[in-house]
Amino acid sequence: MDTQNTKQSKPKVCTVDDGYQWKTGFAFFDQGFANMKASEDKPAQEAGNMESQKVGALKSVAGTQDQVSILVTGGAGYIGAHTCKALAEQGFIPVVYDNLVNGHREAVRWGPFIEGDLSDYDLLDKVIKEHSIQAVIHFAAFAYVGESMREPGDYFRNNVSNSLTLLEAMRDNGVNTIVFSSTCAVYGVPAVLPIDETSPQCPVNPYGESKLFVERMLHWFGTAHGMRAVCLRYFNAAGADPDGEIGEDHDPETHLVPLVIEAAMGTRASIAIYGTEYETPDGTAIRDYIHVTDLADAHVRAIRHLRSGGDSLHLNLGTGHGHSVREVIDAVTRYSGATISVRECPRRPGDPAELVADATRVKDVLGWVPRWSSLEQIVETAWHWHTRRRAVANRNVARDARVAHGNRSVSK
Ligand SMILES: NC(=O)c1ccc[n+]([C@@H]2O[C@H](COP(=O)([O-])OP(=O)(O)OC[C@H]3O[C@@H](n4cnc5c(N)ncnc54)[C@H](O)[C@@H]3O)[C@@H](O)[C@H]2O)c1
Repeated sequence: MDTQNTKQSKPKVCTVDDGYQWKTGFAFFDQGFANMKASEDKPAQEAGNMESQKVGALKSVAGTQDQVSILVTGGAGYIGAHTCKALAEQGFIPVVYDNLVNGHREAVRWGPFIEGDLSDYDLLDKVIKEHSIQAVIHFAAFAYVGESMREPGDYFRNNVSNSLTLLEAMRDNGVNTIVFSSTCAVYGVPAVLPIDETSPQCPVNPYGESKLFVERMLHWFGTAHGMRAVCLRYFNAAGADPDGEIGEDHDPETHLVPLVIEAAMGTRASIAIYGTEYETPDGTAIRDYIHVTDLADAHVRAIRHLRSGGDSLHLNLGTGHGHSVREVIDAVTRYSGATISVRECPRRPGDPAELVADATRVKDVLGWVPRWSSLEQIVETAWHWHTRRRAVANRNVARDARVAHGNRSVSK
């Protein structure tokens, strides 16, 4: 795994598949947002005007006062890309900053892209200035629990130290609002269910610990520099864009829904169930699955909250309802009609029987309600995207074979 500390990416000129051309050497939209709806978010615009006075001299040609630019670190990743789509739909300009260690260039479709590493203060500083960044959504991180147990140093360097570099670049440019991707892993093994935001924070792995460190850094940057942060503690993100444009594509994949879908499609031989004797109705572990489109919506609401002067917050993002591993497998079986081969394996150390959010606070404070997070919708949207991705991959293989065949014929 690339530890990221030495990689110093240069800004690039990028052409994306949708026909827009973004020159990401810090400027300038040739076209692309002309048709984009101006922000419908009046308080946000007003707050934005106040903030942009602060950065007055730094205002670039990238966007107008109505088109507020949000720096999205990790915006080429799974949740980041879905959030960029939601931001663009709401009139914001998502400026993606990602080193592509785990992200996908083709998932960046709704705004400029800068290929860069979080450890690169100078590049972050330049991007914030040139794009008149007014708030940040910080997704970029390593996010594999098991890997964090083997390589804690990578996690503290990338998730903690590199986040500090970002916070310093924000502070130095007067950008004082941030939405941070935290996780239910900050709670560790809960004593009480459902888990609310006041539950003790006792992470049981370096990944959860690294996220808790960032939450603490944000607290102290708030005290010292007036930075305001919404820390969103996600439970299990799942599903795909209902339009099928983007979806979940991790390598390696460790999340249950895509793994079960791969098993149903036959691209994976079987699905492992870790633990069948938990104290749950069917003996398998229960998790709170939240649709990625609902997650994305919560980020836009959090940005609006901050931009209208709202206080720092810590919010669980879950549905308040859990599903067992067997229920997820059954849902994919029902939807696909496939026979899924299952392997029953011993439980993994540190895997709690049940993790379910108390999601009352996010509903009260942000007015957020999950709209896509039934298990059926999660499975249907994820299935649709996997099918589409497989069709594209098959077409590409066929095209490459035709090209190779053509080349052989020519050289004969
Ligand atoms: N997926 C979930 O269920 C879940 C649950 C809880 C929390 N989270 C958190 O949400 C965030 C996004 O998760 P995801 O599933 O979309 O992950 P992801 O791996 O798909 O996205 C992370 C993105 O960050 C980029 N990145 C990593 N290190 C970087 C660096 N040093 N500089 C620049 N870019 C860098 C990667 O290339 C990738 O595009 C992460 O912070 C993760 O910890 C995810």
